[in-house]
Amino acid sequence: MAKVDSIGVFTSGGDAPGMNACVRAVVRTGVHLGLKVFGIYRGYAGMIDGEIREMGRRSVSGIIHQGGTVLKTSRSPEFETPEGRQEAYKNLKEHGIKGVIGIGGDGTFRGLQSMVEETDMAIIGLPGTIDNDIYGTDFTIGYDTAVNTAIEAIDKIRDTAQSHDRLFLVEVMGRDAGFIGLETGIGGGAEEICIPEFRTDIDGLAEHLERRHVQSKASLIMVIAEGDDAGDATEIGRKLKEKVGMSYRVTVLGHIQRGGSPTSKDRLLASKLGYHAVKALMVGKAGIMLGELHNRISETPLEETWARKKSIDYGMMEMARVLSE
Ligand code: F6P
Repeated sequence: MAKVDSIGVFTSGGDAPGMNACVRAVVRTGVHLGLKVFGIYRGYAGMIDGEIREMGRRSVSGIIHQGGTVLKTSRSPEFETPEGRQEAYKNLKEHGIKGVIGIGGDGTFRGLQSMVEETDMAIIGLPGTIDNDIYGTDFTIGYDTAVNTAIEAIDKIRDTAQSHDRLFLVEVMGRDAGFIGLETGIGGGAEEICIPEFRTDIDGLAEHLERRHVQSKASLIMVIAEGDDAGDATEIGRKLKEKVGMSYRVTVLGHIQRGGSPTSKDRLLASKLGYHAVKALMVGKAGIMLGELHNRISETPLEETWARKKSIDYGMMEMARVLSE
């Protein structure tokens, strides 16, 4: 592999708060070390279309506190074709890029792995997704902000729920994983949490809710992950309605969870990972994702990040049940 004197950075998949802080860290560390640093716009789509521009220290000024990604993002089916990837590689070569840092989730890492296998680029992935479902890191960039946003929303919903003695079903993001649902449910004091990792028993839920209502608990909040096995919040609400007579409302938090200014925790994680990713490329490391495990920078082969599954802490569900009794 040739000496890496020029690198490209891009964001891909669902945007996550903190991606900008990470891009800033990559650019400034790279410039500090005397590298040429290029921003690749719109993820793999922009790589294929040649949307690549050199960045300097000042081109990342004033973005550390911004949500979204100044590099833009996309999900690119074209990159899944050999022709698309060849075009992308040609564009990177034309700019003299020898190392690439991609910030995103498992879809992004699969793309990076094909670059590892098919090109001579030095590749590093950084975990950026609100879902937190990436093996090899305790937290992903954006997760902490998303959970805080969801908890803030639940606090507000609680006010109106209490005023009406009402049941609320609050849907949070997380297609395949319940990290957001579990932490939001605990932090928001939800009475019930439904996440994909646990089978949702509608009859049991209905019986539980009715019992609690009779015990006159002022309000009831259920947090439901969008990917729950019993359906989304609307579907679960409809199923419950058939069993119990209680009136309820559904709130889908949706993409609100993806936006907003990143928390200090996300800014710090993003800054550390961006900084260490450039340093890792400089010492010849490649084909890995950098993350953080127990407060230490960790390295995981890209393939493991999706081949192995990060587990939620199952004991926390039991704790949530006890604490909401
Ligand atoms: O992967 C992040 C995420 O926000 C998921 O939680 C959600 O299911 C998905 O992206 C939504 O994707 P899109 O914005 O493409 O609809």
